[in-house]
Formats: sequence, structure tokens, C-alpha cells
Amino acid sequence: MPQRLGVAFLLLFMGLEAGWAHVSSLQIEGIFLGELPEGHFPLSWQPPTRIHWVGTSLREVWFRAKVKVSPSTFLYIPSIDHEITVYTNSQRMYSFGSPRDFLSSFVPLLIPLGSQESDEKDKEQEILWRIRSETGFLGLPRLPLLVGNTSEIFQALVRRDVVLWVMVAMILFSALASLAVFYWYSRQFVGWLFAFAVTIAVYLASRSLAKWWIFGLYPRFYGSLELWSLFFLPFFVWQMVRGMLSLSKRWHSVLAYGLFGFGLVAVLGSLVSFHFLVTLLYPFELFLLGFLPLLLGILAYHGRKNPWAREVFAGFFILGITAVLDILREQGLILSEHIFTAYGWVAVFVNFLVVETRRMRSMAKENQKMVKEIQSLNIEILSTQKEVILRLSEIAEARSRETGNHVRRVSEYAALIGRKCGLSLEEIDLLRLAVPMHDLGKLAVPDDILHKPSKLTEEEFAFMKKHTIFGYEMLCKSSRPIFKMASIIALEHHERIDGQGYPYGKKGEEIHLYARITTVADVFDSLSSNRCYKKAWPWDEVVAYLRKNSGTQFEHRLVEYLLSEEEEVHRIQHTYFDDFQGDTNGTVSS
Ligand SMILES: [Fe+2]
Ligand SMILES: [Fe+2]
Repeated sequence: MPQRLGVAFLLLFMGLEAGWAHVSSLQIEGIFLGELPEGHFPLSWQPPTRIHWVGTSLREVWFRAKVKVSPSTFLYIPSIDHEITVYTNSQRMYSFGSPRDFLSSFVPLLIPLGSQESDEKDKEQEILWRIRSETGFLGLPRLPLLVGNTSEIFQALVRRDVVLWVMVAMILFSALASLAVFYWYSRQFVGWLFAFAVTIAVYLASRSLAKWWIFGLYPRFYGSLELWSLFFLPFFVWQMVRGMLSLSKRWHSVLAYGLFGFGLVAVLGSLVSFHFLVTLLYPFELFLLGFLPLLLGILAYHGRKNPWAREVFAGFFILGITAVLDILREQGLILSEHIFTAYGWVAVFVNFLVVETRRMRSMAKENQKMVKEIQSLNIEILSTQKEVILRLSEIAEARSRETGNHVRRVSEYAALIGRKCGLSLEEIDLLRLAVPMHDLGKLAVPDDILHKPSKLTEEEFAFMKKHTIFGYEMLCKSSRPIFKMASIIALEHHERIDGQGYPYGKKGEEIHLYARITTVADVFDSLSSNRCYKKAWPWDEVVAYLRKNSGTQFEHRLVEYLLSEEEEVHRIQHTYFDDFQGDTNGTVSS
């Protein structure tokens, strides 16, 4: 799918340019390569070849054309890096730039060819133009020179630019759209892809003639911008490939920051000295020639295991094809900045966009699955924890001849009172889990005391009272909030409001609220439910007992909270009902 999209883009824009590129351009009839003294003209002309960059040995190139001229005819020179001089019928018409300077390429040249007083209409004239450079780096017009009246030239320029500016707009638009898509899937900002998009947009804009209208006054700034896009593209590409394939070896970082450092030096250097740039440009273009095969090799290597690498490979393969096409178009000149052509970059960008979106979508799906698994695991852990606590509490209660349902009921009553006290939902949940452990300390009380059929001696009862401290010590070592709470309840659930309880005789609010609640719930259940040794007390008697001891054994308001919820209390009793047909003589549970 991404491959097909890339190819479609490539064909679309190649078609657009083929249709629009060749407007009323000046037909070159001959060229002359070589230096001539000032005032001399070439005598021998070669057939024209289309060339862009000329090697270091050459300092001067001449071009010849014949054109029919009227008084309103102008010659438009789109892109010259150095000095240009134009002659009409061996007469010097115009001269611009300097053989030592680079800036002339950023100024549009519109030269009148027809003379105003002349009556020679549509007379054919010979036009010569000479380009000179002393930098060892001869930049020739990349685009055809245009001839015509000013409105014809203007229309041709606009037509030529439209394709590029439409592409710039499309790339910026798709960059913004993709940021939104990525943010939607992954809640993250994909900075590299955005930087890549902006860089390609700048690169394409720099191919446009419109740069003169925008940056005419700031050619040096614009030149730096163009170089920035040229030098930093490989860096952004490499960062994206690294991120997408999670390449983390040391040499990957070295390559990335090496590219960045090189780009920075080149851009800053170009602001200072053109010669400096020229010395960097050739090695860089050589490097670019090697960079693409290197990238393809890395992607092919990782593609064995990584499906994303295979898909990104497709994008760069298209770039490779367009680069080869460009070289062929340059008619034999291999070193050219056109090697990383705009169409190829667009294909690469679209490819990245599609692959990265698909990658993020699949990651988002995976994440959702994981979150669900974690959630169900959490629920599993919580219910296991609850189960363990209940079983443990049941064991403790069973030793003192209580039933498993006792702890469940006490826990529900405590939750009921807690709700009336205004505890938070989390606190109530914790309370529900912690309350069953109130008599855990009974596990440390010997059977002959715990199960003694007759009344306990004073010593035995004193030991029995220690189940509160034993329980506390068993539970307090845990750092979990639930066991912290349970340890307080275990310690204080036999304290009384009037200070007559045990183990420490704490009074009123010195006793923790959780323990005060548990005391009411625990005693209420002991009275109101069947035991193997006694029958449940009738409701009225239980109420009377609680009210009588309210303010001394129990906190008054907590008793009233419980009794005011009679219906709910009966529902709990019904749900966790214990049926005993044994003997019923005995005492209220401790
Ligand atoms: Fe107890
Ligand atoms: Fe109990």
C-alpha cells in the first residue's frame, strides 16, 4: 500500500513538471568553454549540451542564441551563481554579479533586448551571454532563460512555480494532519517527522523562482535556508529511521550527530565564506551518493525481522530510482544536488507517514490489550487478597467457635456504620477487608484457655485479653494500608468509651474510629446471631442492650447509626444466616 502511494505521487508530479516546464525559453544554438581576453568573442561554437555544474578547471562559459526582438522584448535570467554579461550583436547590454560572489543567484535579472528608438520590428538578433567564476565552482542557469514581454515572462514564472508551491502546501498540510493522527493514536508529538516535512517544504520552495519575490532583500539568509534543507535532510531521515527501528548501537548515534554537526558547520560556514561552503559541498555530495545505498542496506538488513523496515525500504527505493533518473537527465554529470530530487523526497515522506501511522495504530491496539490484561490481573489480585484475608479470619474465628459468616456480617455492619459516618468509598472498602481480622490474635491463645468449658481464672482471662496485642503484632509489620488499619482494629476492638476496656483502657476518641465502629458491629453480631452454644437474641433485646451500654461501652452515635438502618441490617443477617440446632447455654462472645 505505501509503495503504491509513493509511485502514484512520483508519477503525478513527474507528469506535472513535464507539461509545464518548457515555456518560451531561449533556444541555445551553441556553447563555448574556455577563457577569452576582455573584448574578444568566441569564434568556434560547440553544439549545446545541458550542463549545470562545471568542474574546477573551468572559469568561463559562453552561450549563443538567435531571437526575434521587438521594442518590448526582455530577457529573463532565472538563476546565476556568479557574474553574467549579456551581448546583443556584439554590444555589451548588461553585466551583473561578480566572479568571486555567490549572491548574484538570488537576484532576478530582467534585461531589455530591444532598443526604444529603433524601428526594426521582429528583427532577428544574435545574443551572447558569458558566465564567469573565480571560485572554482561554476554555477550555470539551472532553468531555461526566458524571452518575451514582461507579462509573458511573469505568466511563465507563475506556471513554473505553481507545481512546487502546491507541493509545499500539500507537504505542510499532510505534516500537520499526520501530527494530529499520531497524537490521536499515541498522545505523542512526532517531532522528527514534522521537522522532516518542514525541511522538504523548504527544499522544494528553494527550487521555486518565487524565492526572489520573497527573499530578494535577504539573499544571504535565503541561501542559508536552502543549505539548511540540503544538509539537514539526511540527519532527519536518519533520526526517523533510528526511532522507527529502535536502533540504539553507538555508531548509529555517532552517524546521526555527525550528520547534524556537519550540517551546522556547513550552514554557519556559508554565512561567513562562500569558499568555505564550496570546499564542503563536494565531499557532502559524494557522501549523499553513498548515503542512500547505505540506508537501503541497513533497511534491508533489519527488514528480515522488522516489517516496518521493509515498508520504509520501499520509500527509499523510489528515491533511489528518481535519483538515477535525475542523473540520466543531467546527461552524464554525476555530481549534482539534484540527486536527491524533490519527487523522491515526497515519496519518502508519504511512505514514512503511512508506515508510521500504521505502526502507531498497531502499537495503540497492543497497548489497549495490555491495559485490559493488567486490569483483569488487578481484579484477580484484589479478589485473591480478599479471599486470603477472609480464610485467615475464618480460621481465627473458628478457633473461638465463631462461624465464617460472623466475620462477613461484622464486616458488612462496620461498612454500614462507616458509610453513615461519612467515610470515603476507599476507606469503606478497606474497612470491609480489615474488620474480619479483628480476632486474628486468638490464633496465639492456647486451646485450653480458648475452649475452656468453665469460667476462666483471672490469670487465664488476663492472657485471653492479650489476643488484642497478639493480633496487633501479627499485622502491624506490613506496610500495606489494609494491614495497618487491621492492626489498629485488632488492638483496640475491646476498648470502651468509658476507659474500662482492654488492653490499654483508652477513652473516647483516643480509641480509633475504625475500632469504635468494629466494637459496635462485633458485639451486635454476637448478640443477634445464633451460635453453637446460644440462640440469637430477639431484636428488641439487642437494641435495649446496645442502648443501655451506649456512652459507656459503645459510642452513642455509632449505635444509633446502626440501629437506624434496621432494614439493611436484616438484609445482611438474612444473606449470611447461621442455623444451629445445638445447645444454647453460654455467654456472649468476647
Ligand atoms: Fe476479640
Ligand atoms: Fe468477633
